[in-house]
Amino acid sequence: MNILVFGKDGQLGKAFAEQLQSTPFSQINTIRFVGRADCDLANPNYLHLQTFLESYHPQVIINAAAYTAVDKAESEAELAFAINAVAPEIMAKYAAANNATLLHFSTDYVFDGSGQRACTESDQTNPLGVYGKSKEAGEKAVVSAFASHPQLQYAILRTSWVYGDGGNFIRTILRLAKERSELRIIDDQFGVPTSAQWLAELGVGLVLGSAAQKLNSGIYHAVPRGETNWFGLACLAVKTAAEAGMQLKTSPGAIKPIPASDYPLPAPRPMNSRLATGKLEQELKHLGLVSKLPHWNTPWDEQVRVYVKQLPVD
Ligand SMILES: NC(=O)c1ccc[n+]([C@@H]2O[C@H](COP(=O)([O-])OP(=O)(O)OC[C@H]3O[C@@H](n4cnc5c(N)ncnc54)[C@H](OP(=O)(O)O)[C@@H]3O)[C@@H](O)[C@H]2O)c1
Repeated sequence: MNILVFGKDGQLGKAFAEQLQSTPFSQINTIRFVGRADCDLANPNYLHLQTFLESYHPQVIINAAAYTAVDKAESEAELAFAINAVAPEIMAKYAAANNATLLHFSTDYVFDGSGQRACTESDQTNPLGVYGKSKEAGEKAVVSAFASHPQLQYAILRTSWVYGDGGNFIRTILRLAKERSELRIIDDQFGVPTSAQWLAELGVGLVLGSAAQKLNSGIYHAVPRGETNWFGLACLAVKTAAEAGMQLKTSPGAIKPIPASDYPLPAPRPMNSRLATGKLEQELKHLGLVSKLPHWNTPWDEQVRVYVKQLPVD
């Protein structure tokens, strides 16, 4: 079996590399991790990606690449759609035509964040900004490419607030906490921080594990247990880092909650990013994976503590 992983230099791509390199799969012949230099997903010559796929003929495609600059996307819509909508469409069409499996990732930003409850996969999408619109278009393209191939498998994992080896909210907060004595952080936008490592372990289980042949294709919400807001996440990150010996100017008590309206950004964000994971849990039970994925049920805050503790203290 040949596996292609797009997005090798991103947070999730690196987590897949770590996960796949530490998991022995007898059926895997080759894994290729693909970065921008190997195949530019924004290349206006769309045959570029098609030709790349044909030259490698993967049986499994993992697309961890994306245009993720949420604010910049407001002024780079064409680029965001090329990477987040057109490229996944080409991957999905290739997969559908060649009996390959596709694992793709999407975002809480496909929802408008109205209401208080956790959104389910069947809730109406209504993205607020260009990034969310481009990711929604990518989801639709993947679903549509597989629509007339019910025997083939794909999964779109919608996730939120990802942190891993790369730039993310937690790292930004800790950098600022080293520089400033006080931080002001939004406390009225709710969601679930998700470890890239956790997501990669889940993704590998779904499309490459022993039960992958039984995977029911579709969209799944994939976030850990629990919920918080940005203020709660910042407080936990700073507290854990201070306990781990990081020299910070901000103490947890010096983080002040503010409403999102006090911190306007170019792209509007959903106020409610909670994602219901019942469908995924059912699928994991169906695949017999609940007990095989060691971190499946670990709550978000435990995972954040582990992540912060392994960051360099200086
Ligand atoms: N980060 C979050 O908070 C978050 C939240 C919800 C959902 N998601 C979704 O989760 C997935 C993984 O996100 P992430 O946090 O791992 O993102 P990331 O760290 O920004 O990584 C994205 C990767 O995509 C690559 N890429 C961008 N444009 C490309 C192009 N034109 N050609 C080839 N590669 C290109 C980037 O390459 P370079 O390294 O060369 O720039 C980067 O390595 C994405 O589908 C994202 O939409 C993320």
